[in-house]
Amino acid sequence: MKITVVGAGNVGATCADVIAHKELANEVILVDIKENYAEGKALDIWQTSPVNMYDTRIKGSTNDYSKTANSEVVVITSGLPRKPGMSRDDLISTNAGIVKSVTENIIKHSPNAIIIVVSNPLDVMTYCAYLTARIDAKRVFGMAGILDTARYKAFLAEALNCSPKDIQAVLMGGHGDTMVPLPRYTTVGGIPVTELIAKDKLDAIIERTKKGGGEIVNLLGTSAWYAPGASAAQMVEAIVRDQKRIFPVCAWLQGEYGLKNVYLGVPVKLGKNGIEQIIELKLNAEEKALLNASAKSVKEVMDVLDNMNKAVVK
Ligand code: NAI
Ligand code: 2OP
Repeated sequence: MKITVVGAGNVGATCADVIAHKELANEVILVDIKENYAEGKALDIWQTSPVNMYDTRIKGSTNDYSKTANSEVVVITSGLPRKPGMSRDDLISTNAGIVKSVTENIIKHSPNAIIIVVSNPLDVMTYCAYLTARIDAKRVFGMAGILDTARYKAFLAEALNCSPKDIQAVLMGGHGDTMVPLPRYTTVGGIPVTELIAKDKLDAIIERTKKGGGEIVNLLGTSAWYAPGASAAQMVEAIVRDQKRIFPVCAWLQGEYGLKNVYLGVPVKLGKNGIEQIIELKLNAEEKALLNASAKSVKEVMDVLDNMNKAVVK
């Protein structure tokens, strides 16, 4: 089993480290365009193996995709991160060029790979990889929902002074301010969250979750990496161990939730074939309106990418 992580920066290196630590593959290939960067990061991570007691072999490569050949899963994290004052959408043109060229190289050397996109703006970069890869959308999807849900759960655990392990939640929509947390589907040890916390406190946690990425950008001057890297690795784990786990994932919708031709965060079942099922929750009118607004906002940025591609073709 071989897994490739493209982009050896903060998120990519963290993801590769977690994958190796959990022994999800025999071999992890870390790729970056910056000379010797992936080699250096891979060497450092590999030297944790005797300490952390794993034998997954991790190797770095400067843009040599022949080393990634026949990878079963590829995580794309290459691209610019946000700086203070930037929205995720500000990254579109630069990161679309990067994601396109990376996806071409991946598909050339690993035509059967499952591709997980992390680069921002997430929903649109996932669309970009899908357009480029020309493979079944069950094998091209994006990581955002696990991270956004993890933030929501962490804030709730803090407010309730309980273990984050006991919180179950699902969050839908695009990776941005229009994301749709669903308090109706949030439980703590099986108890509906609304029985444990006042509405105003829950609303404040939902607002903080929506701006969770920006909160870290403002603190660090760049975007988060520990939780994003671990979240992408959790998707890899569900696939390589065929766990059939239910996670919110950025998936290509073809009529589900009444939405068509849009990449959006929805609950799915993840297993060895990638997305094995898109789960359709019964949303109430308010939740549906929020999801539609989120889809509209993602679609607008997808249109920007489509127009950029048309301009290139002309
Ligand atoms: P970073 O700057 O630390 O790392 C990005 C790496 O990509 C750099 O090492 C760079 O050399 C490399 N790179 C650039 N062009 C490349 C190419 N053509 N081929 C191979 N490597 C290339 O950035 P960080 O913090 O790791 O973030 C990576 C991306 O992930 C950003 O777009 C960021 O916005 C996004 N992100 C997405 C999240 C999500 O929830 N989906 C969460 C956190 C970050
Ligand atoms: C995050 O949510 C910026 O997408 C990045 O941390």
